[in-house]
Parts: sequence; C-alpha cells; structure tokens
Amino acid sequence: MTTTLSGQVALVTGAAGGIGQSICRGLRDAGARVALVDVDKAALDAVADEWSGDDVATIAVDLTDDEETAALPARVRAELGGLDVLVNNAGVRQIVPMLELEPADWRRTLDVDLTAPFVLSRAAIPGMVEKGRGKIVNIASMAGHMAFRDRAAYCTAKAGLMMLTKTITMEFGASGIWCNAVAPGVVETPMTSAYFRSDEMAASIRANAPMERWAQPDEIARPVLFLAGPDSDYVNGTTLFADGGWTAGKGY
Ligand SMILES: NC(=O)c1ccc[n+]([C@@H]2O[C@H](COP(=O)([O-])OP(=O)(O)OC[C@H]3O[C@@H](n4cnc5c(N)ncnc54)[C@H](O)[C@@H]3O)[C@@H](O)[C@H]2O)c1
Repeated sequence: MTTTLSGQVALVTGAAGGIGQSICRGLRDAGARVALVDVDKAALDAVADEWSGDDVATIAVDLTDDEETAALPARVRAELGGLDVLVNNAGVRQIVPMLELEPADWRRTLDVDLTAPFVLSRAAIPGMVEKGRGKIVNIASMAGHMAFRDRAAYCTAKAGLMMLTKTITMEFGASGIWCNAVAPGVVETPMTSAYFRSDEMAASIRANAPMERWAQPDEIARPVLFLAGPDSDYVNGTTLFADGGWTAGKGY
C-alpha cells in the first residue's frame, strides 16, 4: 500500500532537524502540502531553498512561546488552506546527572517535549473536529517507556507525551481525531551525532538492540506516514515502537 495524502495539509514541528526533515519529505512525496515549523530560522531557510514550491511553507517559532504556538494552526490554514495532519516532532534532550539538572533546564525540556505538543494539539483539534477528520502523530521515544540514566527530564517528558497521546484519543476519538505516537530507538541525527562517535555508543547498540544497528531518519518517517494516512484508520491512542527491537526484552 502506498500512502496518499493528496490534497491534505500537514504541520510538522522540529522540521529542520534530522527526523523532521525526513518526515516532511515523506509527507510531501505522499502529496501533502507541508508547513515546516522550527525555532532554527537559518536551518528552515536552507530547507526552503532546496524545496522551493507553493506546497511548502516555513514558519520560525519558538514552541516554548504558548501564544505563538497556539496561533500556528490558524497561520497554517491561512497559508496552505487547511490542517489535516499535525506531527509533534520537535524535541530537546540533555544528558545530565539528575542532581546537576537545574529546575530551569528540567522545565525547558518539558516545555518543548511535552507542553508544546499539548498547546499545539489543543489549538489544532477544534478545526479538525469541525472538518470531521484529523490525525496527530507525536514523536515520543523508547526513553519514555524505559528509563535511561542522566535523562530524567527527557524520559519523563516522553512518558508524558505517550500518555497525552492516549488522553487525546479518549476525548476526541469519537469526533474524527486520531492521535498516535512513534517511539524511536536510536536514530542518527544532529541530536545524537556527537554520541555516535563514541565507543560507548557502538557497545550500547550491540548490547541492547537485537538488530545491532541504529536507525536512519527515514525509518522513523515511514511509520509516521502510516499513522498520518488512511492505512491506520483503526489505529488510535497507541505508540508504535520503531526501535529495532530494543524494548522487546533483555538479551541476557
Ligand atoms: N535521534 C534520536 O535518536 C531520537 C530517538 C528517540 C526520539 N527522538 C525524538 O525525535 C524528535 C526529533 O529528533 P531529532 O533526532 O531529529 O533531533 P534534531 O535535534 O535533529 O531535531 C530537533 C529539531 O527541533 C527543533 N527545536 C528544538 N527546540 C525547539 C523549540 N523550542 N521550538 C521549535 N523547534 C525546536 C530544533 O531546532 C531541531 O531542528 C525529537 O522529539 C526527539 O526527542 C530522537
């Protein structure tokens, strides 16, 4: 089956990042018009230069600004003529021992990784309900399912995002809204690139991932496309793990 999103409009946050770009490319290839949202204006401009066309809009916004974030669905409807798919992909992650994690940094991680998806979903849902159909895909993490040391805020935020996914389905599943999450394992992107150069990383992958490799961004984008399109119409409130089997069990 090939997903078709012809005539639909998608909004993707964190669109300038590794996974975000891949998701946007997949949605666009499936026929959607795509609004790319990111705080990094220079990176957005670089993507826009490469992808010129009237089926793409770029919007530079810091998602920790509640007002600007809540205004995004209206901006996208005005610029691209609708909003059918919302992908909450933007995320930040700090690797810091808990006793060294400042409350302000904890809040910043929760603001981007959990509160922004809430604020944006809350703003997008009424128009989707009015239209009778809308799909929300949240990019969580296997770190929201199992704890990793030195990532207290990140793990907590991603666990919260998986629960937000379920609560949206409970409240709006009967109103034409789908909300699902994809939980990646380790993916090679700017977020992880420094880590990838370490021996510790290679050893960790070998010890923990049954497939003994990490993912490329398009291996996360494809499950997102499935959850954004019509092939997943009886899938709601769930998290699809794209982690190469990492969370399936323990090998020893
Ligand atoms: N890379 C991995 O191994 C991995 C694993 C599991 C989950 N994830 C999740 O996938 C998502 C994408 O991660 P990635 O690896 O592509 O990271 P990335 O760092 O390449 O991209 C993240 C993007 O989010 C944007 N962003 C950060 N703060 C923002 C803010 N306040 N407002 C607007 N945009 C903001 C950044 O500018 C960046 O372009 C994240 O939610 C991440 O937690 C990644």
